[in-house]
Amino acid sequence: MKPKALLSKVGLWSATAAASAALVIGIAPITAKALNIPTEVTEDGKNTYKKFCSACHGEEGKGDGPVARSMLPKPRDFTRGAYKFRTTPSGSLPTDEDIYRTISYGVPNSTMIPWDILTEQQRASVIPVLKSFSEAFEVRKPEAPVAVGLEVRPTEKTVAEGKKIYEEKLECWKCHGVEGRGDGPSAAEQEDDFGFPIKPFDFTTGKFKGGNSSRDVYLRFTTGLNGTPMPSFAKELTDEQRWCLTHYVISLIKPEETSK
Ligand code: HEC
Ligand code: HEC
Repeated sequence: MKPKALLSKVGLWSATAAASAALVIGIAPITAKALNIPTEVTEDGKNTYKKFCSACHGEEGKGDGPVARSMLPKPRDFTRGAYKFRTTPSGSLPTDEDIYRTISYGVPNSTMIPWDILTEQQRASVIPVLKSFSEAFEVRKPEAPVAVGLEVRPTEKTVAEGKKIYEEKLECWKCHGVEGRGDGPSAAEQEDDFGFPIKPFDFTTGKFKGGNSSRDVYLRFTTGLNGTPMPSFAKELTDEQRWCLTHYVISLIKPEETSK
């Protein structure tokens, strides 16, 4: 096993972007730490997957574990290499760091918990196991993460600019609804690539699946969510417009509803 040195990127991020993200949302910055993600499947990884993941994600990673049957959203089927939460462009595979992040953060509004009962090394060890379920990782490499520019501050002006993009330029409301409740005119007909119904996210609830920081929201509509009808809007906007849209989306959160 050749361990791969990791987190130089995350380290850089925490130094630069976390300070500004923390200003807006009050999240704790991620501390960079040396973490080895094995490049090949190890016994530790196999055992960890079997014990903690396979009941939902299935022994062969098809998302068909014994407890998955009645679950919605379904546990991810790893065989296609389609990951929702990435820093990489639309259609790309995720980076190891993206996968690690989802395992640690979990997916709010689903049965996927943050796996903080596992050690960091155990969480790292399952990454090659997940990748081994899909041939995509043998034939392709993840593309480089998208550039996230310097954040502009949420002000009345930038939020109003974001509202215009949401309502007029890109028509996010068609799926997400004018007030962001996930109830736009096209909402009911959405399906994911596996044929299961999927709801456009209700922004008012606040518990974003991919994370609540402004950087997370920026990344979601810039990279799109692979395997879902949530498209990537990578080409339509300048960097400043992206931050305006981000702040508008965050302004749709209704604090009185987030505690429910
Ligand atoms: C109780 C069921 C359950 C268990 C156990 C579980 N998961 Fe999940 N997992 C889910 C569900 C449901 C989703 C899909 C959430 C969604 O898309 O809204 C998911 C999604 C994921 C994703 C999706 C990433 C993406 O970007 O699309 C990863 C990675 C993942 N799980 C890894 C793991 C690992 C590793 C373990 C074991 C340590 C694990 N899961 C255990 C239910 C589970
Ligand atoms: C064709 C329908 C559709 C359109 C148009 C659309 N979305 Fe989405 N969006 C979705 C769906 C479906 C999901 C939920 C995916 C899931 O739950 O896995 C989603 C999820 C998201 C998320 C992720 C939230 C989270 O849980 O982390 C963000 C952010 C988002 N959309 C923003 C936007 C913005 C901004 C626009 C306009 C530029 C937009 N969407 C346009 C369908 C759409």
